[in-house]
Amino acid sequence: MSEIPVIPGQAVFDAIDPGTAIERTREAFERYGRGEWEMPAKVYLDSPPYGDFRAMPARGDGLALLKWVTSFPGNSARGLPVVRGEVLLSDAETGEELAVIECSSVTSLRTGAAAAVSAQVLAADGAKSVGIIGCGVNGTWSARCLAAAGFGPGVCADPRGEAAQALAGELGWRVGERAEAAAQDVVVTVTPGHEPVILAGDLHPGQHIAVLGADAHGKREVELEAIGRCRAFCDEWEQASAGGELANGVEAGVIRREGVTQLGDVLVGRAEGRRDSDEITLFDSTGLAIQDLAICRAVYERWREGSVDAPVVTL
Ligand SMILES: NC(=O)c1ccc[n+]([C@@H]2O[C@H](COP(=O)([O-])OP(=O)(O)OC[C@H]3O[C@@H](n4cnc5c(N)ncnc54)[C@H](O)[C@@H]3O)[C@@H](O)[C@H]2O)c1
Repeated sequence: MSEIPVIPGQAVFDAIDPGTAIERTREAFERYGRGEWEMPAKVYLDSPPYGDFRAMPARGDGLALLKWVTSFPGNSARGLPVVRGEVLLSDAETGEELAVIECSSVTSLRTGAAAAVSAQVLAADGAKSVGIIGCGVNGTWSARCLAAAGFGPGVCADPRGEAAQALAGELGWRVGERAEAAAQDVVVTVTPGHEPVILAGDLHPGQHIAVLGADAHGKREVELEAIGRCRAFCDEWEQASAGGELANGVEAGVIRREGVTQLGDVLVGRAEGRRDSDEITLFDSTGLAIQDLAICRAVYERWREGSVDAPVVTL
């Protein structure tokens, strides 16, 4: 029998601030880049016409986890979360279960943190202003993490005016049109990926674009012509070329493996990041299980220190 904590989402947010999420997520990309953390590609289970389930395992630093998570884009209209599920954290030496952790909190922190890490690594010197296109759950956490990393102020764009207003109000940023958000130094797209929200005509030299919403096959946030004008980076090539924004470029023959750099490779010095101040960098985030491991490891450490309140269950 194992006694394990079941850690609710609010306890995760109370334990891990955006600065910690950024630090831990950056470390995850580095450890994965050095081959110290393991991660098979995520498995998608379609649930048409509603969305899909994803199974995401990873192992590192004596821990292993499985995240079982949804992306059901139509859920917002039904008043339900798009992303929901749980993480099962285990001991990698004995296989013993260690914790069950609510996953949309983990997803939000690591997704927002990945946008911030990509900007820290790839944005041009002096880049400050931010455009957020899609101010839902993960757009909001991306903005919070970018603000924690010293970026901003920013422009918040969303057809749901109340979502853009709430985010702008919280951070002291402003609400704007899509094209205005797309013109900022650092632009983050976190929409359901039904149509392009970055057009070739929006781009100008020196921008950094972090594309987060298109994390499964069939989604798209960037016009093909715009992708062709950017220097492409991704979190992990197998995932990004199969189900990320770059998959659209691969299918159209605009993107090839040798033209795409993984963020971890830049962090460990194996590949070049931005080459000059005019380059437009595009980071395709599909969301990695190693990012979840980074956050869950931090949450579990806090729980062991006694600073996370969670009910314990016996399995
Ligand atoms: N890359 C990753 O790691 C990662 C992680 C989590 C979620 N996602 C993906 O990000 C997307 C958003 O997830 P979420 O949980 O934030 O959903 P959400 O529903 O909370 O937010 C999406 C927001 O986009 C807005 N939107 C829709 N069309 C728009 C448009 N044309 N222009 C501007 N805004 C628009 C919606 O009004 C909504 O506020 C989903 O596709 C999800 O699968 C990616």
